[in-house]
Amino acid sequence: MKPFKIRDIEINPPLILSPMAGVTDISFRRLLKRRGGIGLTVSEFISVEGLTRNNPKSKRQMRFFEEERPFAVQIFGGQSERMRMAAEMAEEVGADILDVNCGCPAPKVVKHGGGSGLLRDYSRLEEILREIKKAISIPLTIKIRAGYYDHTINAVETAKLAESCGVEHIALHGRTKEQGYKGLADWDLVRQIKEVVSVPVSGSGDVTSVEQAFARWQETGCDGILIGRGAMANPWIFRQIEDALHGREIFQPTIEDKRAVLLEYFEMLLEDMPELAAIGRMKQLAGQFTKGLQGGALFRTTIYHSHSVTEVLDRISEYFEAVAAGRPYYGEGKPEEVEEAPALDSCEAATVNS
Ligand SMILES: Cc1cc2nc3c(=O)[nH]c(=O)nc-3n(C[C@H](O)[C@H](O)[C@H](O)COP(=O)(O)O)c2cc1C
Repeated sequence: MKPFKIRDIEINPPLILSPMAGVTDISFRRLLKRRGGIGLTVSEFISVEGLTRNNPKSKRQMRFFEEERPFAVQIFGGQSERMRMAAEMAEEVGADILDVNCGCPAPKVVKHGGGSGLLRDYSRLEEILREIKKAISIPLTIKIRAGYYDHTINAVETAKLAESCGVEHIALHGRTKEQGYKGLADWDLVRQIKEVVSVPVSGSGDVTSVEQAFARWQETGCDGILIGRGAMANPWIFRQIEDALHGREIFQPTIEDKRAVLLEYFEMLLEDMPELAAIGRMKQLAGQFTKGLQGGALFRTTIYHSHSVTEVLDRISEYFEAVAAGRPYYGEGKPEEVEEAPALDSCEAATVNS
């Protein structure tokens, strides 16, 4: 387990914040990067249709902070001409790496040939990769799934094709498009890809602890590990893995650290977007973040029913004060009505502009 390079860009530590549409925006990435342990950040997937038609939302999605570097822009689409134009735009805004999404299972994306649709259309995939490769000088990388259908698993072939087109890093989420987010990711495919290509290979899927990260490394010999959902539940996971890598004591956040990170996130969101949108994002993180915490379910319900900045802040204070003092938390006083925020499970909900 050591740092690796994508051409001359060092990924150190070899840990990547996995792209998540509707989650890993500029605020979330900065929040996580500040916790430490992240070697590469990646944008949410960005529609090339939106980018090349000057859609303001798509353009906003390409913003990043210097402190995030190295930073990759991930694009999705099915038209090589537009993919090339969008890749050029990413290079112009200063991204270090251009990543092509070959994994999103959302029908809206696949219908236009993009995302995981590229896994069953190699001539289109090859044309896109070659077009982009000709146009940009920053490294080109891809993120793929195991295959389109459960009976057409072709990650190894896709990786070989990508390498032959000049792709310089391959990330595999070992589920098929058909699988969506069900079952478990097949990490053995990461090992198989690693055996046949010479570019670095990273794996994605279901890593939620230091032990799991080490186990996946040992089993597959992969160069890097991506963590997505696990980072929402535990923003310190990268730092904890890095601590273990260096033989340091593993950082354990206190309840005060947890409160502070939620507040820091809310502040960043409010700087970046309208209040209602910020409250929505806050509910999403609070939902993931407090899973397993004492009184967490009630807290999530309470936050879910908050509609103003003050209300959200008050509820956070009440909850964390109760936990810090070892008092039970009663939320709004209706413990029997625990209601969960909707499950967060894919790029599907966030697909726009395509
Ligand atoms: C809400 C959500 C949005 C996602 N959006 C993207 C995306 O935009 N691009 C991408 O390549 N993968 C996307 N993914 C897949 C993740 O990057 C990752 O490969 C997958 O969730 C498995 O890893 P995990 O178990 O660490 O979350 C998304 C996943 C989730 C849960």
